[in-house]
Amino acid sequence: MAIQWFPGHMHLTQKTIAERIKNIDVVIELLDARLPGSSANPMLAKLTAGRPTLKVLNKQDLADPACTAQWLVHYNALPGTRALALDASVSTPAKALIQACFELAPKRGGMVKPMRVLICGIPNVGKSTLINTLTGKRATKTGDEAGITKLEQRISLADDFYLYDTPGLLWPRIIVARSGYNLAASGAIGRNAFNEEEVALELLGYLKTHYPALLQARYQLDSVARLEDEELLEAIGRQRGALQAGKGVNLQKAAEIVIYDFRAAVMGRITLETPQEYARWLASGQELDAQRQVKKDAIALDRMIRPKKIRKNSP
Ligand code: G4P
Repeated sequence: MAIQWFPGHMHLTQKTIAERIKNIDVVIELLDARLPGSSANPMLAKLTAGRPTLKVLNKQDLADPACTAQWLVHYNALPGTRALALDASVSTPAKALIQACFELAPKRGGMVKPMRVLICGIPNVGKSTLINTLTGKRATKTGDEAGITKLEQRISLADDFYLYDTPGLLWPRIIVARSGYNLAASGAIGRNAFNEEEVALELLGYLKTHYPALLQARYQLDSVARLEDEELLEAIGRQRGALQAGKGVNLQKAAEIVIYDFRAAVMGRITLETPQEYARWLASGQELDAQRQVKKDAIALDRMIRPKKIRKNSP
């Protein structure tokens, strides 16, 4: 799926993070609990390499609790990493966050060595909402659009605890195809950057296998397992009255309904990837990317030597 999503101001955000990270004790990475693997920014992993990290699985109220538990176990087993799940209904998240950060960097604290924490996450993951709750007021939104972007703001959560906020950051190239679809389904990518029908079909393909009962209940369908993804989208469109002139199903409208229903969790609490699934997708994405790189290198090499070949053969 071709996605244009790395506007210039994201380069600036990247630079700001690279500069700030030099004086940071702990990185809080806000992830979407419905797609923790796909919402983790690989560029951020490079920028913050080696820093203790607190993974916050946000929007847990929308995610499948059993999957969230699996992801927490997965992250908590990684070195220098802690994980916890949150959502906007938790009225006092500061205590758990502060405690986890001090566990990750126990030598920090006090006025001489205050805890310095960088909070990062992809757009729409709920960072502004969390910061507003933490500060107890409407903090300025660190916008994701050029012009309104304030590149960094420092928030004091305690006398010896500073939180540095940065705008939502995406990365220039997705190598895990499923991640593109999951990010689009979740609302992390602007709607003009993807094809809704394609995203809805991928989403239905996953739901049909992992959450058939929720699909059947929501759209009053008998058995979704026997339907192809396209047939399923059509059946949903028909059931929800997404028709066009001539009585055919308006697939675009049907796709929008499916995506909306997923985002609002009206089907129920759903997670689009388990740690094992994501690890498999990542491995095959990396393999494909390596093959692509080999081909690109071969073309580049060919371009370099071709003029010489022509020159050699020319009279
Ligand atoms: P961002 O700064 O990371 O870009 O995200 P922001 O806080 O603006 O949140 C993006 C959307 O996600 C908002 O919805 C917000 O209400 C919602 N949200 C944030 N945290 C949670 C959560 O824990 N659970 C759920 N269910 N939703 C959450 P919106 O529809 O874009 O705007 P709004 O009208 O609700 O404010």
